[in-house]
Amino acid sequence: MILTDDEFKLFSQLIYNESGISIKEAKREFLQVRLQKRLQAHRLVSYYRYYKLVSDKNQGQRELLDLVDSLTINETSFFRNRPQMDVFADMVIPELIRRKSALKRLRIWSAGCSRGHEPYSIAMTILKRLGDADSWDVKVLASDISLRVLELAQRGSYTELEVENVHPGYRDSFFKKVDNQFQVIPRLRKLIVFDYHNLKHENGLSGLDAIFCRNVMIYFDREEQQRLINKFHASLAEGGYLFLGHTETLQGLSDKFRFIYHNKGAVYQKTG
Ligand SMILES: C[S@@+](CC[C@H](N)C(=O)[O-])C[C@H]1O[C@@H](n2cnc3c(N)ncnc32)[C@H](O)[C@@H]1O
Repeated sequence: MILTDDEFKLFSQLIYNESGISIKEAKREFLQVRLQKRLQAHRLVSYYRYYKLVSDKNQGQRELLDLVDSLTINETSFFRNRPQMDVFADMVIPELIRRKSALKRLRIWSAGCSRGHEPYSIAMTILKRLGDADSWDVKVLASDISLRVLELAQRGSYTELEVENVHPGYRDSFFKKVDNQFQVIPRLRKLIVFDYHNLKHENGLSGLDAIFCRNVMIYFDREEQQRLINKFHASLAEGGYLFLGHTETLQGLSDKFRFIYHNKGAVYQKTG
């Protein structure tokens, strides 16, 4: 069933308003296929009837979550963008250790964490780099708009192929092989707090040492990106770090960050 121009506009506006995800004309077929699945799930035969269901302020809320979830792209991997993870390990963590040696408290946010590879990579790096990790109060907040991926992230069970690019030393320290799967160990798991959060909304967080929001902003339009960066700026502590995906930039979005480029890895630091 072909999605008409009007239907395309209605649904893309609804999805943008809910999630900030901007569906361009080129993604029309993708939207159509996903919508058809939702229609089938509800045994509906027209996009119009489905629109009425999903836009109902009371009864459509849960379905709207499922629709947005079905449109998210969740591609991820352990230690994605290795040069940037090296900047985190070799430059950012040592600097935070110096700066926070009295307080001994670290707060990192993986915003748009997908199936958990990113927050677990962050937590592994911290545990390896903090000599006396047990004397530190470390929390990695990991959030996503997709309940489906959050559930998988919380489970922390990965295939051999997925853990392939985890350094063998890290793999031996932080995973336990159970049957054919690699299960993250409780010591790593307990550093992470998984939660549902829609980046369109206020987050209520402050004083964060670093935010990883990688390969998420690319799905937002310029206005939504700007709002997001302002919220991140407010949530970071003075001198806090912002990690974006390798195709994402703050150029033209904010001049309240300093760009740091180190051994092919990039990070932004909050300035005054
Ligand atoms: C391509 S994945 C990136 C995962 C990870 N950050 C990485 O770089 O490997 C993008 C994630 O952003 C999430 N996402 C998209 N829109 C969101 C929103 N409005 N609020 C929170 N998460 C969102 C998606 O569900 C998806 O899991």
